[in-house]
Amino acid sequence: MTGGDELRITGPRPLRGRLRVPGCKGISHRALLFAAIADGTSQIRGLAHGDDVHRTRAALAHLGVQMRADHVGELVVHGRGVDALTEPATVLDCANSGTSMRMLAGLLAGRPFHAILAGDESLSARPMGRVAEPLRKMGASIDGRDHGRLAPLAIRGGALRGIRAELAVASGQVKTALVLAGLQADGTTEVVEPQPSRDHTERMLGALGAPLERVDACTLRVARGALAAFELDVPGDPSSAAFFVVAATITPGSEIVLEAISLNPARVAYLDVLRDMGADITVHPRGERLAEPVGDLEVRAAPLHGTVVRCTEAIIDEVPALVVAGAFAEGTTEIRDAAELRVKESDRIATLEQELTELGIAVETEADGMVVHGGSPHAALLRSHGDHRIAMAAAVAANALPGESAIRGFRAIASSYPEFPAHLALLAAGTAE
Ligand code: S3P
Repeated sequence: MTGGDELRITGPRPLRGRLRVPGCKGISHRALLFAAIADGTSQIRGLAHGDDVHRTRAALAHLGVQMRADHVGELVVHGRGVDALTEPATVLDCANSGTSMRMLAGLLAGRPFHAILAGDESLSARPMGRVAEPLRKMGASIDGRDHGRLAPLAIRGGALRGIRAELAVASGQVKTALVLAGLQADGTTEVVEPQPSRDHTERMLGALGAPLERVDACTLRVARGALAAFELDVPGDPSSAAFFVVAATITPGSEIVLEAISLNPARVAYLDVLRDMGADITVHPRGERLAEPVGDLEVRAAPLHGTVVRCTEAIIDEVPALVVAGAFAEGTTEIRDAAELRVKESDRIATLEQELTELGIAVETEADGMVVHGGSPHAALLRSHGDHRIAMAAAVAANALPGESAIRGFRAIASSYPEFPAHLALLAAGTAE
């Protein structure tokens, strides 16, 4: 039951049925950006409905891109090449969406006009130097608070030249920004990451024949070039699916199928972690969409034991869900190499610690990780801290626990998954199909 900005759940509620989660957020942002600068008309079905993706779409509309929602779930984007983008008359408000801000920065770096990217309180505190610095080296003028490291960012793009950018932190967002800039730059742009980051951009642009070359797992090369228009059914979001995978695993009597999820190996490493912990997950592959493997996930409830999770960019968004699994597991679950959690939509090491403590779970935190002592969590009053993934992780825990829990600030889910409470209720009622 939902009341105002609070979600109340009385558990335990076994989950049953088949569900299609919304389209992948990361692929949705990329599809909009690529379609906007392609030559021709693209059709995108199953775009994520969350506010983050809406922010990218609204920003592109302010840049003069014509888009039309054809019928429910399909968007027609009239791309006229990157040169057709026009100076926005208003601030481009990215709200809570780091993906919008960082990727748009890369697009705007090559445009000969002025634009301002702004965000909410959380986004205004998140690091933007990692994207602004290499774009400046390519020739863009980017200023912002804290000597150009924090939003709002004021960008005047222009003639770009290719560079070799060695990133200090692996980031799918920064890599994509540099690809969007590289497509507009003279010469070759090379992006080198310390570890591989998610590769939706390489897969999608590769499938569209863009001038992009994967040199090795950590190095990407891009040259100036135009993009072809495309049609895409966006695969289901693996990070959104993760909440239901964990919910079904920890709630006895559950048995669910999540349909048409992206099985990109850079996104589903959490399935291996959960299987190591004892989860019962079967993957049914169902082909590819613009080089993204897609399939169904079948999950049954199973007892879990603790594990050690070494975080990479491929798993960082799933830590809130995995930590809930750890809270219900026997023994300890260690989250390591996860300093990036500190600069997500909330400081997720701190916010997860607070919420697990409310649930009666002992936690030790470090600068770059945490140790969760699994045991017997109990129903509690929980908080989202304005972070969509903390809100959903809390709901997953509440769903498995006897008694009533409440999650305050639940509206935070709107940034990625507004349908989440309705989908959880459908599975709990056993009526999802
Ligand atoms: C994303 C990359 C990750 C991830 C974010 C989406 C992407 O962030 O946490 O939710 O779509 O490329 P970083 O690029 O900061 O690692």
